[in-house]
Amino acid sequence: MTNQDLKFPEGFLWGGAVAANQCEGAYLEDGKGLSLVDLLPSVEHGRFEALMNPKKALETNYNFYPSHDSIDFYHRYKEDIKLFAEMGFKCFRLSISWPRIFPNGDETNPNEKGLEFYDQVFAECKKYGIEPVVTINHFDTPVGLMRDYNGWASRKTIDFYLNFCETIFKRYKDQVKYWMTFNEINMILHVPMFGGGMDISDAENPEQLKYQAIHHQLVASARATKLAHDINPENQVGCMLAAGATYPNTPNPDDVFAAMEADREGYFFVDVQARGYYPSYSKRLFKEKNIQLEIADGDLETLRDYTVDYVAFSYYSSKLTSADPEVNQKTDGNVFATLKNPYLKASEWGWQIDPVGLRITMNAIYDRYQKPLFIVENGLGAVDKVEADGSINDDYRIDYLREHVRAMHQGIEDGVELIGYTPWGCIDLISAGTGEMKKRYGFIYVDRDNEGNGTLERKKKKSFDWYKKVIESNGADLN
Ligand code: BG6
Repeated sequence: MTNQDLKFPEGFLWGGAVAANQCEGAYLEDGKGLSLVDLLPSVEHGRFEALMNPKKALETNYNFYPSHDSIDFYHRYKEDIKLFAEMGFKCFRLSISWPRIFPNGDETNPNEKGLEFYDQVFAECKKYGIEPVVTINHFDTPVGLMRDYNGWASRKTIDFYLNFCETIFKRYKDQVKYWMTFNEINMILHVPMFGGGMDISDAENPEQLKYQAIHHQLVASARATKLAHDINPENQVGCMLAAGATYPNTPNPDDVFAAMEADREGYFFVDVQARGYYPSYSKRLFKEKNIQLEIADGDLETLRDYTVDYVAFSYYSSKLTSADPEVNQKTDGNVFATLKNPYLKASEWGWQIDPVGLRITMNAIYDRYQKPLFIVENGLGAVDKVEADGSINDDYRIDYLREHVRAMHQGIEDGVELIGYTPWGCIDLISAGTGEMKKRYGFIYVDRDNEGNGTLERKKKKSFDWYKKVIESNGADLN
């Protein structure tokens, strides 16, 4: 039974999302350099510790690195894109591995073999009429930039990044129109190694170092936006935020203010990228954290003149906060601090499930920026069971997605301009946070376990057929 009232706007970009470092594997093939993610073991072997102490990650030899082979998208992209096409994908969000194109990060000339790989991937997308949506930097800064420059702490990284951007904007001028400059740009505040390719453990004032790196990224993002538009005026460039509205733990005005401040922590980035200037509240923030930004001549004009075309975001959950530090205990398994919300259920990894929170988040972001929105990540990480007959009955995932699609539709009815939806990990891949394989998000199952055993065979889950119907009916059939 379909419900025509649930139909999405014509041309809505239904699709799915992955990132190079979590699916490609082939970690040193065809001239690729090491990505910092290639230094990380899985959670049982110290991933969190390595993430928070990149020096340790550089110096330690772990037994097993999940990203090295991953799900081998590098060799299996044809089969995978064919399956995406079978689901009816209108778009496919992927990232370009920076160290595949510039192995150390600071070379002048790119690695031709790396560029050829994406030529082929985009050609395959085109064959099925799938629009690529490309994240330029998704957590995989080349190790060389982290080791030799401390990543985004150095202003020089702006030029290395822009050289990477110029190379790919020119090469894929006729293949790619939708770009995003940084995945979850606010992640740098929580996991500086992922977000900034940097180590802050020795910094006298880590906040100073983080915000200086953020300034470099914001300038780089604005200059990349200009470059993309100069190279092809049709290009659409977005920023990308790890979003999720923060609720106050009680109606106590102090809690309400704490929730507002928690949301501003993320909005800070989009305020600059979408409006073109540092928000007025940043004066107080910098004063309290004793931060003095080094801003070069022309930086503020660059930020002002080259704002983004759309605002993309990931949404997995809302958050709950209190003004009282004693109350503010964290839940497990999430880099974003949150209290347990008694009104919500949570995933096996403690991520709270809140479809209404998606509607709230969409409205809040749209009210603030009035630019088109793109939900480029959303989904449920869960353990899937392959039954004796080979079927995978992931009804829990279907339930999660159905409620989020409904909420999205409500958001559109509220007046939000939403251009697309790419649920995360449309094919099972390595978890960014834990390095696990058993935390699965996909419509397509991949036979591989946490230790890297398995045939890598792909199997359709029940959600595969469900999502296919959703796309076919443009959202009218959610059964
Ligand atoms: C986002 C990232 O933070 O969440 C993805 O952009 C990541 O790279 C996703 O995979 C889900 O997180 P996790 O830790 O379950 O893989």
